[in-house]
Amino acid sequence: MRLRKGKRQQAGDRAGVDHRSGTPAATPGLAVELRGVRRQYGRGAGTVHALAGVDLGLPRGTFTAVMGPSGSGKSTFLQCAAGLDRPSAGSVRLGGTEITGMNENELTELRRSRLGFVFQAFNLLPSLTVEQNVLLPLRLAGQRQDRGRAAAVLAQVGLADKARRRPGELSGGQQQRVAVARALVTTPDVIFADEPTGALDTGTAAEVLGLLRHAVDTLGATVVMVTHDPAAAAWADRVLFLADGAFADQLERGSAERIAARMTALTGRTRAMAGAGAGVAA
Ligand SMILES: Nc1ncnc2c1ncn2[C@@H]1O[C@H](COP(=O)(O)OP(=O)(O)OP(=O)(O)O)[C@@H](O)[C@H]1O
Ligand SMILES: [Mg+2]
Repeated sequence: MRLRKGKRQQAGDRAGVDHRSGTPAATPGLAVELRGVRRQYGRGAGTVHALAGVDLGLPRGTFTAVMGPSGSGKSTFLQCAAGLDRPSAGSVRLGGTEITGMNENELTELRRSRLGFVFQAFNLLPSLTVEQNVLLPLRLAGQRQDRGRAAAVLAQVGLADKARRRPGELSGGQQQRVAVARALVTTPDVIFADEPTGALDTGTAAEVLGLLRHAVDTLGATVVMVTHDPAAAAWADRVLFLADGAFADQLERGSAERIAARMTALTGRTRAMAGAGAGVAA
């Protein structure tokens, strides 16, 4: 019996090759697409392969968590996927746009208009009001600073009454909610979050994660989040596990306990391999 091709493969057949860049054409429906992405630091014997050939497609409207031991390449992955760092090889597409050949100005413009960022340290400007912080991406992108839009996203994160406050007058959790509102304001193709709950207590962390979940489920946002915390990763649709610069495992809709168990297994395996010595085949 012949098996029907999967949707993805059919899309790939249709897509063919992008003749301008020479790379396979974008797969429809993917918000983030990495093909053969490598990032190395240094040369010769001391070369570090921070990303050792990553292939990945994240559909629009999904919430993905990335976990892995310290040094496994999580930050490098996020930076390359978000156009903040340049891969040594391979192709990165965001919302169907190939970003690999872009110059600095084009990348900056793309990040401002089509990506949202949420960092561990909130990164709000203390001298601006909450509303001004939320409108900052529009201001930087040279777009109209739509106060109605600011009010709408602040309402979505439950801070409608805090528009005129300054970040210093808010709790940590509220500040991170402002950062989420700021990430949502441009209706970006992808929101990248790097340890967004690293500085928050458990209860406040759950509020922020609930907001990201809500953005995916009701606003159609796409979220990619790096985290060390299995409880945070459990809010995602899918957890990807990085080990030594490559995706080694994944879990769909896992509980915090199952995610923690996978992490323990992965860390044990990575240590065992390191102990066996580099270059030794398994
Ligand atoms: N600028 C750099 N120069 C040289 N090596 C680097 C540089 N940045 C990262 N690396 C190396 O690349 C590898 C991956 O680093 P990365 O920061 O992506 O790990 P990570 O998974 O984010 O770790 P952590 O959980 O500790 O934040 C590590 O071996 C690291 O030492
Ligand atoms: Mg890191």
